[in-house]
Amino acid sequence: MFKLPQLPYAKTALAPFLNEEQMSFHYDKHHKAYIDNLNKFVETDPSLKGKSLEEIILSSTGGIFNNAAQIWNHTFYWFNMAPASEKSEPTGPLMDAIKKDFGSLDELKAKFVDGGVKTFGSGWIWLCSDAAGKLSLVSTSNAAVPFTNNGPAPLLVADVWEHAYYVDYRNLRQKYLETFWTHINWNFVSENFATKKVRDLTKTMV
Ligand SMILES: [Fe+2]
Repeated sequence: MFKLPQLPYAKTALAPFLNEEQMSFHYDKHHKAYIDNLNKFVETDPSLKGKSLEEIILSSTGGIFNNAAQIWNHTFYWFNMAPASEKSEPTGPLMDAIKKDFGSLDELKAKFVDGGVKTFGSGWIWLCSDAAGKLSLVSTSNAAVPFTNNGPAPLLVADVWEHAYYVDYRNLRQKYLETFWTHINWNFVSENFATKKVRDLTKTMV
């Protein structure tokens, strides 16, 4: 059985970027619903018992995949943000890779925000790394993750489902994404770039 992971900060800590009402709906309602739904599948399907979340994502389709992947995506999203008071910057090998593949941090931001704005409907905009450290931006629809079919490892993600921003930003997805950019936990992103592997999030929820 999976448990809703603890947020790494208080639900008020990201305000005014994301206010408490936005956080409460997103975390306590949306994220928790995916956990409850997946646990119902686990209860009734013996083949899922004992599997990590990542193993379920890589071996399932349909409702099981959708709920498992949404749990993974949301957990990663919470961890890759930080309060403005804990501002961080990309440094070292990660910054070198950003300069090599995007020219500058500003260029990466512009392309990330643009990719999120242009993600049609519900989905996610990701910064990823392949095993050799080559960075890329990936837009996924609905629950999809970048790392199925031997795809690249996620470093950073923004949720662009309307439920992620509509309480605070209404239809202004671009403004939400630009403000997201000032609340990135770059230490988390650097850790992901150091391994270039899909992060084990199961340990945060068992
Ligand atoms: Fe979401």
